[in-house]
Amino acid sequence: MISTSKTASDRLRRVAGAALAVLRLKAPLLRVYRWRQERKSIKRFPITKPIDRMSVEILSNPEFQHSVNEVANLTLLDTPRLANLWQLCRATDHSGAMLEVGSFRGGGALHLSNACPQRTIIACDSFQSFETIDPVLDYQFHKDQFANTEYEKVANLFSSRGRTGRVFSGFFPASVTGGKLPRISFVHLDVDTYKATAESLGYLLESELMLPRSLIVVDDFLRGTGVDQAVAKVLAEHADWRSFPLFPAQGLLVPRSYLEAAT
Ligand SMILES: C[S@@+](CC[C@H](N)C(=O)[O-])C[C@H]1O[C@@H](n2cnc3c(N)ncnc32)[C@H](O)[C@@H]1O
Repeated sequence: MISTSKTASDRLRRVAGAALAVLRLKAPLLRVYRWRQERKSIKRFPITKPIDRMSVEILSNPEFQHSVNEVANLTLLDTPRLANLWQLCRATDHSGAMLEVGSFRGGGALHLSNACPQRTIIACDSFQSFETIDPVLDYQFHKDQFANTEYEKVANLFSSRGRTGRVFSGFFPASVTGGKLPRISFVHLDVDTYKATAESLGYLLESELMLPRSLIVVDDFLRGTGVDQAVAKVLAEHADWRSFPLFPAQGLLVPRSYLEAAT
């Protein structure tokens, strides 16, 4: 009897030891993986002419610099993407709210709020990774990715700064149906996968939510993923919207009404 329980506890100790060893190895293995991916990218996607920063207004803007520093650990977005978002949200109707679909830890949404602090900012995330992953179109993604975020922490980003912010948890657009959203004039759509992009964009363009002087920025545009096909499918049904590429991998969606609307 004694020897059986001893064997069981030995086995438990061995399993716990192995689990601990894997956990200890995880961080260095991840670092090696990321380093190898970066090396591959440098070879396959070279930047022969680096960005000329001389007198680039936005880079010297103290508010922009402060915001980039503030969100550095809360967003996956890089400086060129953050610069595009900063300038484009400011070029939309300031009476409309700004919306980020796919907010993860909330840094992108906070950055938009920093660009226009008086406007309502709305952050939407499932807070439980992806709903559906197409094995072909979304091959880079897997379930459980981006699940390490919390509703309360994202909501606190806005309330602690006295911003008018709302956070919706759940899969968009189901999470906001039933009149939960106000009129909107800027959207950052960053949900990575085909189905989520097609459904979110389709919902926004079919709703009466978008003001005439609105813009939508789609992340991961022209990266050869399901996002491109989702945008193409939805815009084929909405001839009044056009898409334009933005470096490094965003798409700018502009409605015909944008130029017709009074500034
Ligand atoms: C690449 S991350 C977003 C990164 C974020 N914009 C940033 O600034 O770091 C993609 C996010 O989309 C969310 N997501 C995917 N499909 C969604 C859906 N249908 N509704 C809401 N969130 C979704 C995921 O949970 C994930 O947090």
